[in-house]
Amino acid sequence: MVSLKKIFGLSGRTALVTGSSRGIGAAIALGLAEAGAHVVLHGQLASSADNKLKEILELGGSAESTYGDLNEKGMGRKIIEQCEKRTGHLDIVIINASAQINNTLRDLSNSELNFQINVNLHSTIEILQTCLPLMASRNWGRVVNIGSINQSLPNPVVTAYAATKAAQHNLIQSQAREYAKFGVVLNTLSPGLIDTDRNAIQKGKGEKHWKKYTQKANWMGREGQPTEMVGAAIFLSSNASSFITGEVISLSGGR
Ligand SMILES: NC(=O)c1ccc[n+]([C@@H]2O[C@H](COP(=O)([O-])OP(=O)(O)OC[C@H]3O[C@@H](n4cnc5c(N)ncnc54)[C@H](OP(=O)(O)O)[C@@H]3O)[C@@H](O)[C@H]2O)c1
Repeated sequence: MVSLKKIFGLSGRTALVTGSSRGIGAAIALGLAEAGAHVVLHGQLASSADNKLKEILELGGSAESTYGDLNEKGMGRKIIEQCEKRTGHLDIVIINASAQINNTLRDLSNSELNFQINVNLHSTIEILQTCLPLMASRNWGRVVNIGSINQSLPNPVVTAYAATKAAQHNLIQSQAREYAKFGVVLNTLSPGLIDTDRNAIQKGKGEKHWKKYTQKANWMGREGQPTEMVGAAIFLSSNASSFITGEVISLSGGR
């Protein structure tokens, strides 16, 4: 008989979720903890993940937190090294934190471009460089990159952000190929419009505007909820994903 616990259960695994103080990362962190993983929460500031940490511990989950601004060179590497040292084995990394500045290419400043490249791309490279050899040495590892539908459906108002997301997924694919023989799989989850702080400006324009905006966003005509990302994230973090690598799962409500 197939044991669902063995396939989807994460007990004994340690997972880092970058940007898990709120939004999609927070929902995924809670889901991984419920599936049995020890979760390392992360946000920009020392206090960013305090509330989420309290919530997971109160629910009987196992968690701790770290912090650091991924705009800083070296921070991606530092966070992985710290998690590895503190937990002894970092098995799952969810690359979720990102910077998004809505701007056309014409109006994009160098500092806006560099900020998005640093947080979305440079830190991803450092994270992968540091965690993948360690996962390979233990013959088991899962990397779940949180991309965006914009990585394959470019939109002029998020040109630079979308370009970093496309490059991020290309990195995931190249490393998926490099590490495929070592029990380490890397995949991308690609969300559409999700109801988080990231969309606060559109939501803040009023209920009528938000309804119209979400109706046009996808076939379902509604925004997704962070909790709707959790099942796919658990799948890609578990033994269930042992034969899938370098792929994209789109969670967009249909496009
Ligand atoms: N929401 C959407 O509609 C949507 C659509 C497609 C893709 N996505 C992708 O899904 C992921 C999560 O998005 P979200 O909407 O949940 O984001 P969010 O609500 O804006 O939360 C962002 C998270 O990332 C952290 N973070 C931001 N900048 C950081 C930095 N410089 N260094 C370290 N951590 C940083 C934040 O920490 P603090 O709390 O400390 O600031 C927070 O935990 C992102 O990769 C995003 O691109 C989202």
